[in-house]
Amino acid sequence: MSDSTFYVTTPIYYVTAAPSIGSAYTTVAADVLARWHRQRGENTWFLTGTDEHGQKVMQAAEANGATPQDFTDRLVAEEWKPVLDVIDASNDDFIRTTDPKHVERVQKFWQTLHDAGDVYEGDFEGPYCVACEEFKIASELLDGEGGVKLCPIHKTPVDLVAERNYFFPLSKYKDKLLAFYEDNPTFVQPESARNEVISFVNSDLHDLSISRSTFDWGIEVPWDKEQVLYVWIDALLNYATAAGYGADPDSEDGKIFATRWPASLHLVGRDILRFHAVIWPAMLMAAGVAPPQKVFAHGWLLVGGEKMSKSKANAIHPSEIVDTFGSDAYRYYFMKMIAFGSDGSFSWEHLHAVYTSELANGLGNLVARVTAMVNKYFDGVLPETAAAGEAEQTVATALKNAADTANDAIDRIAINEAVSAVADFVSIINGYVTEQEPWKVAKDALPSGGAARDRLATILYTASEALRGVAVLHAPTMPKSAVLLWDALGAEAQLGSLASQNANNAGDWGQLRAGAILTKGASLFPRIEITDG
Ligand code: MSP
Repeated sequence: MSDSTFYVTTPIYYVTAAPSIGSAYTTVAADVLARWHRQRGENTWFLTGTDEHGQKVMQAAEANGATPQDFTDRLVAEEWKPVLDVIDASNDDFIRTTDPKHVERVQKFWQTLHDAGDVYEGDFEGPYCVACEEFKIASELLDGEGGVKLCPIHKTPVDLVAERNYFFPLSKYKDKLLAFYEDNPTFVQPESARNEVISFVNSDLHDLSISRSTFDWGIEVPWDKEQVLYVWIDALLNYATAAGYGADPDSEDGKIFATRWPASLHLVGRDILRFHAVIWPAMLMAAGVAPPQKVFAHGWLLVGGEKMSKSKANAIHPSEIVDTFGSDAYRYYFMKMIAFGSDGSFSWEHLHAVYTSELANGLGNLVARVTAMVNKYFDGVLPETAAAGEAEQTVATALKNAADTANDAIDRIAINEAVSAVADFVSIINGYVTEQEPWKVAKDALPSGGAARDRLATILYTASEALRGVAVLHAPTMPKSAVLLWDALGAEAQLGSLASQNANNAGDWGQLRAGAILTKGASLFPRIEITDG
């Protein structure tokens, strides 16, 4: 185990309504990466949480007749924390921006910059989208009816804000940022996101207003009680405050910060790329803190061509899907079927088709057939390979390739490629079993032994050992069924827990040995009928 930590984060989500499959998409992706790194024996830390300040949350609370604190307390307890169980997220921590520790550390950060002369007072005037909580660039706005200017993401009218507040001199960091991108070519991923960021910094970098004076739901500006900090510069700091930034360096938290920071990876939707790849590193540079190692911008889940969002009628709650298909199938579907980095759509029909062909008829049926045959022909005891030939070598090589491809894809954050590599290997095993027709070989196999019995033993050993590799490589994506598979293979008695298997070595052939006790348990993915309406 290495000393450094794989520290992965999701954005912290606005607590304006219940979660949707849109926000859950980022959390599942981060979870698959966290579980994969743990499966390699690496120190891993996975942070998610909620963004609770600002106008957007305040307005949602008002609309619900509650104070922002009561409103967010209730939604976090009833919705945002429980959804993590629904999607089977294995986060190590959950931060709320209303946590007193976060508030104190954010104030410390900005007080330090203020003291160093990196904050100035000025007048701000410009368009603001509350749904984005973002000052907009006039040239990027859309034209609505009657000359109204619209936010290009939400297609809703922007507010015109004119305030006296405090500024962070972002433009001063232009050259430093460009040099940073140059020196760290993989800092922003994918490549299209990197190009967008570089061209934005080259052309449009303005100083950033960091405080608001017209409402009070936010962290108080430490040197001016009349203002609250702009929600984004409070929210971005969550990644550092949760890791111990701002604590006494000799304290427990301070020591943690030294090992956990800089974060390895911030996963974000492409809507919030600039905040993470421009403003955030500049803030950290100003404070003399190392920027994160990587920001990866993924695409949006679209419904009817529009970004799905919690506030729109098109929002689907993860439970609606998980209650029918289970969390493993949910995770598998979204991680495999959408190229990570591109937009994608969801439909019930497509999900059902993928579930039926790849999980119920594919992996689930394969496991049922193999375990049933080991039970029927060998009383459940895995036999010795006795007559391995070219077909078996092909399966062994395919496992090695699948493991290498998947591990490499994870390092490139190509999550869909990793899941697909394992799924393709499942198809190879299925093809192997179908071609070798062990049920026919069994007809000639005498209980006392002989060539046919050796052949039958070899086929069933090969399929079982191949499934051992599948259990390890699918564990990060489908943790529940991977454990069931591990149990069905009787692998624990020989190899220890599934959690202790190293994903880097998953492709090494021959780990499951003769003598393992296989059981035919309940179906991993029972067939599901969906009816209209
Ligand atoms: N609170 C800010 C983030 C602060 S991070 C320091 C915010 N919150 S959000 O709730 O509006 O959205 C956060 C993230 O949720 C998006 O960036 C994206 O990762 C995810 N998604 C929300 N809707 C989504 C889709 N329809 N599709 C894919 N991801 C989506 O912005």
